Order: sequence, then C-alpha cells, then structure tokens
Amino acid sequence: MRAISQAQPNIALVKYWGKRDVASNLPASGSLSLTLSDLWTRMTVEFGARPGVDTLTVNGAPAPNMLPRVSRCLDDIGGRGRPAALVASECNFPIAAGLASSASAFAALAVAASAALGLERDRLSLAQSAGRASGSAARSLYRGIVELGVNGDAIDLRSLAAPADWPLIVTVAVTAASAKPLSSGDAMNASRRTSPFYEAWIAGQAADLARAREAVAARDLAALAAVAEPNCLKMHSVMWTSRPPIVYWNAATLSCLETVRALQRDGRAVFFTIDAGPQVKAVSLPQEAAAVADALRATPGVIDIMQTGLGEGARILERG
Ligand code: DP6
Repeated sequence: MRAISQAQPNIALVKYWGKRDVASNLPASGSLSLTLSDLWTRMTVEFGARPGVDTLTVNGAPAPNMLPRVSRCLDDIGGRGRPAALVASECNFPIAAGLASSASAFAALAVAASAALGLERDRLSLAQSAGRASGSAARSLYRGIVELGVNGDAIDLRSLAAPADWPLIVTVAVTAASAKPLSSGDAMNASRRTSPFYEAWIAGQAADLARAREAVAARDLAALAAVAEPNCLKMHSVMWTSRPPIVYWNAATLSCLETVRALQRDGRAVFFTIDAGPQVKAVSLPQEAAAVADALRATPGVIDIMQTGLGEGARILERG
C-alpha cells in the first residue's frame, strides 16, 4: 500500500484569485497555466505501515502545520475509514514563496494516495480531489498549457498544448527565499470580502481566458503577453486594494519588471507574470532564454535564477 509520485508546479497566466465556494474550494473563475518540467515535488505515501495517525515530513523534517490539510486530502481520496498514512514529500525548489509548491504537492499527493490504495481513478477525478485541497493543484495533473474551467459545481480541465507543441521557457527570478507571510487561500478570501475591485476582476476573467486560449491556439507569444501581463497586474491590484493590503512584491520584483520591459524594447519575445509571492516569472520563446536569464541575473536584488521548459502532468514513479 505504497506509491511514489512526481508532480511539477504550474504557473498561471490567467490567474485563479477568488473562490466561489470556500467549503468546497471551488474557484470563482477559470484559469490557464503552464505546467513546468524541472521543478518537482516527489511524494511517497504509504498506508497501514503504522496504525494511529498520519505523519508528514517535508524534505526530511516533520511538518505538523501542513498535516491537517494533507489528512483532509487523503480522506477525500480514500474515505474517512482509510488506514493512517506515512507521507514524505521532497521538493527541489523553495517552498511557500510563491513558486506554487502547494500545487505540485497536492497534485503529487492525490496521485500517490490513489495508487497506494489501488484505486482506479481517472485524471480528472484526481485533479478534482487535488483542487479541493488547493485550487491551483488541479492544473498540475495535466501537461503543457492547461485550462481549468468551472462547469456548474465542478471543475473541468484540459491540456491545450503538449510541451513539444509550443516549447516555451519559464525563467524564475528568485528575489526572496523565505515563506510568504499570508497563504494564497487566506489572502484571496480577504480580497473577496474587502477589495472594491474584486467583482470587476472576476467579471473580466472569461474574456481574458478566451483571448489566452486563442493566443495559445495561434502560438502567438505577443498575443499571450497582451493578456497575461494585464491579468497578473489586475490580480495584484485586487490584492493591493484589499484591507489590509496584500503586497507580496519587494523592490527587486519591480526591478525585474523593468528588466523584462527593457528586453521587450530590444525586440525579445518575453513577458512577465507574478503569483502570491515576490518572485518574477518570465515566459519566453526558447531562443530568448539565455538573454532573459542573463538580464534577470544582473538585476539588483535577484538572488537566484531557475529556468525550465514545460512538462508532463503528475504521474506515478513507483508502486508497491
Ligand atoms: C496566485 O491554489 O494556492 O498562484 O486553493 O487556497 O490553495 P488555494 O489557493 P492556491 O492559489 C493560487 C493563486 C495564484 C494564482 C494561480 O495559481 O492561478
């Protein structure tokens, strides 16, 4: 009753920021993202090895704070009568700093738990379980460029392009490695309650999704940039106008935006996006990747650069 899985984080270009239903963690709107290849979470789940309560380690250290959320996701997969589980998560990138570690973690957890219990669950139903644990995690079940739609009271997902169909490169400029002060979930609930821009943000999402879908179908990076950059800035405007304000950026975040603008002025096919953290992600065509990495590395305040292509959805590495 043991399985090991791997999932990679995903970076949203049309963002999820708001829940229609907090209890079921149903997003208030659809979203569109890139599943990455080189950053990963590997998750070992073993049921029934030790009776009693679930245990969780993250990179070898006990992680009691995350355990209730993990146990709830295991209940979602295996039912309340399931055996207790030993869960060990390994991650090759900074956790909880706006690099979507909860996305890869819960995607990997859903896949490993289901396999360890010998369940035959399809990808969509595993994505729905992962999404109830963390909305963005549902997208990491799918490869390449992924659209999440809200269909009635459920989410629906599909891959719009495989990694080889449009081999984009994501360059991550790390500007702080510490954990973020407020979780995305708590922050987006505060935005829904307090930002005067929240309703307008949600009302604009369907149009942004349609434009992004068209840009992907046409493999048109400039068109994708024209929807992704404003979508990111709209989301951060909602955060900034929440009460109290939610500001994840630091000075280096803004310096990175200036760097991306300078690259664009030089004619480079690149655009930025930023999630619930201070890191800047630059999305580019492969031929621009070296120049983008060099420029971001030279930007004041950048402490690390990571570069990755697009990758596969969550999968089993080992069973039994
Ligand atoms: C800014 O998926 O972390 O990365 O459902 O509460 O776990 P919960 O939220 P989470 O939010 C992700 C927010 C975002 C945008 C995105 O990934 O779409």
